[in-house]
Amino acid sequence: MCGIIGYIGKDVANKIILEGLKRLEYRGYDSVGTATIDAKNHLIIKKDVGRIEEVNTKLNLLEPASNIMLGHCRWATHGAPTRENAHPHLDCKNNVAVVHNGVIENFLELKEELIEGGHKFVSRTDTEVVPHLVEEGLNAGLSFYDATVNAIRRIKGSYALAIISTREPDKIICARNESPLVLGVSDSGTFCASDIPAILPYTNKVIVLNNGELAILEANKFVIKRVSDGITLSREAKVIEWSIEQAEKQGYPHFMLKEIHEQPTSLRNALRLQEQYLDLIATFLDRGEKIFLLAAGTSHYACIASSYMFSKLARLATYPIISSEFIENYGESVGIDTVILAVSQSGETYDTLKAVDYARMRAATILGITNVVGSTLTRVSRAYIVQQSGPEIGVAATKSYTAQVLVLAQLALKLAKIRGKLSQDEIDELKASLNRIPEVVENVLETREEKVKAIAKKYAKEKLFLFLGRGISTATALEGRLKLLEISYTPSLAYPAGESKHGPISIIEDGVPVIFICPNDETRKEIIGNIMEMKARGAKIISVCEKGDQKIANLSDDIIEIPKVNPLLSPIPYIIPLQLLAYYIAIEKGLDPDKPRNLAKSVTVP
Ligand code: AGP
Repeated sequence: MCGIIGYIGKDVANKIILEGLKRLEYRGYDSVGTATIDAKNHLIIKKDVGRIEEVNTKLNLLEPASNIMLGHCRWATHGAPTRENAHPHLDCKNNVAVVHNGVIENFLELKEELIEGGHKFVSRTDTEVVPHLVEEGLNAGLSFYDATVNAIRRIKGSYALAIISTREPDKIICARNESPLVLGVSDSGTFCASDIPAILPYTNKVIVLNNGELAILEANKFVIKRVSDGITLSREAKVIEWSIEQAEKQGYPHFMLKEIHEQPTSLRNALRLQEQYLDLIATFLDRGEKIFLLAAGTSHYACIASSYMFSKLARLATYPIISSEFIENYGESVGIDTVILAVSQSGETYDTLKAVDYARMRAATILGITNVVGSTLTRVSRAYIVQQSGPEIGVAATKSYTAQVLVLAQLALKLAKIRGKLSQDEIDELKASLNRIPEVVENVLETREEKVKAIAKKYAKEKLFLFLGRGISTATALEGRLKLLEISYTPSLAYPAGESKHGPISIIEDGVPVIFICPNDETRKEIIGNIMEMKARGAKIISVCEKGDQKIANLSDDIIEIPKVNPLLSPIPYIIPLQLLAYYIAIEKGLDPDKPRNLAKSVTVP
C-alpha cells in the first residue's frame, strides 16, 4: 500500500503536497517522491529512499514552486526500496510523470511489449509501464486524456493513479480501481489523494472515486468519467465532518478495525503475486528432504494452517516450528537437505532471523514470506514472496495473517501441481475457491459484524475462554485465542479439540464460554462429540460454523455462520469473526486495541 496525492490550483502546490505526504506516511515510508512542472514547462522530479523529512532535507521538495504537483510515499511491493524504484515514474522523454498505489497484474507482458517498441525502463516496478503507455498515445498524436484513458484500459489489477504531462500542464488525470482514491474541491484548486486525511486541512468537500472511474482535475474544475466508455458522470461533493485523526482511520475508531475491514482488498492483492516467485519457491520446497516452517506468534499459526494444506494437497510433510524453539529442538538435524520457509510480516522478528541464520550457516536453503520489501528476511532469503498487504499499523496481526494463509495456500496448490498430486479438475476447483475468498470475507464482514458485536457484549465480562478446533481449524482456534488474549488481556486457552479429555476439560464449569471452529469438513462428526461433552458440563457453546448447519446451531448458545468454502481455505473466513470478537470485547473492557500493553508490532529483540 502506498500513498499518492496531487494538487492543481491557484496556490503554490509544494507545501500542500509535502504536508499531505506527511499525513499519508503511515501508508508507506520506504521512499518518497514528487513531480512538478516548472515555469519553462519542464517536469521536475525529486525522489529518494527514506522518510519524508529525510528526503525533503536532502532534496528540498518546496523548490521549484509550482501550482501543479504530485506526491508519493512508497511501501514497496515490486522492486526493493531504491531511488530508481521510488515514484514518480517517467516516460522516455520526461513528458509524463505517474504516481501509483496498487498492483498491476499484467505489467510484465506490457513491459515486454513496450521494450520491444523501443521504450527504455529504469526501474523494477510494475508502475513504470504506465508513463510509457501514455507516451505511446501522445506519440500517436492523441490528447493527454485520450492517451491516458487508453493506457489505463490496458492495465489489469488494482490502482490509484495520478498523472501529469508537459503536453497539457494545466491538468492532473487520476484513476481508481480497488485502491482508494478521493478528490477534494476548494476555491483554491482541486486535489486527489489516497485518503481523506491528506487533504482535510485544505478542504472538507470530498468525492470518493469508484472503481473504474477517472477524473480530469483543473485549477477550478474537475470532470469524472467512466474508464470503460468515457461517459461523463456527475457527482456531488460530500462535506466531511471527521477530525484528521478520525480520517487517518478512514472513519474507523481504530486502525485494527480499519485493517480487519481492509481484508477483501489485501486478499485480492495477495492473489496478485508474481507467478515466477511462486514457481521458484515451490521448486525449492519440492527439493527439500526436511522442510521447516519457521515463524512466531500469528505467523506461526499461519504456518500451522499451511502444514495441513501442504500435506493434503501436495502430499508433502512440513513442520511448523516456533522460531525461538527451533535451534534447541531441531538445530542438529539441519543440513544441506533442509529447506526453511520463514514467515514474518515484519521480516525483522529476532527469533525468526536467529533461527534462519543458524540454518543458513548449516547450508539449509532459506525461503521467505514477508510484508516488507527490503526487510532483513528478504536479504537473507534465497527467494521470497511479498504478501502485498500494505502497512499494518495495529499491533495485532489481522490482514497480514489472512494474506499469509492465502499466499501459503497458493504455494501448496503450486506444489500439488508440480508433484502431480491433483487432477486438473481439482486444481481448477481449488483455484476458483481461492479466487472467491475475498468476496466470502467481504460477505462475512458485511453480514456478521453486528452479530459478533452482540456476542462480545454478552461475554465481555467472562474471565476465561477456551477455543477448540480439529484439523486445520486448530490453527484458527490458536489464532483466535491469541487475538483475544493480546488485545483484551482475557485469559484464554486453545487446543486441538481431540485434546480436551487429556486435560483442558477440567477447567469447564457452568457458564465457561467455549468457542468451537467447526467448518463442514471431515472433522465435523468428532467435533460435534466435543461440543456435546463440553455442553454436558455446563459450558456456553459459541460455534463458528458453515451457514445452514442446523445440527451445530441446535447444540450452540450462539453461532456465527460462514458461507460455504473449501475446508482447506476455512482458516481465512473463519478467523474474521474471531478478530472482530477480540476487538469488540477489548472495546467493551475500555481498552485501546491498537496499543495493547507490553506488546510491540515487531519483536526485534531476544
Ligand atoms: C500477532 O498479533 C502479534 N502481533 C505477534 O504475535 C506477531 O505475529 C509476531 O510477533 C510475529 O511477527 P512477524 O510476523 O512480524 O514475524
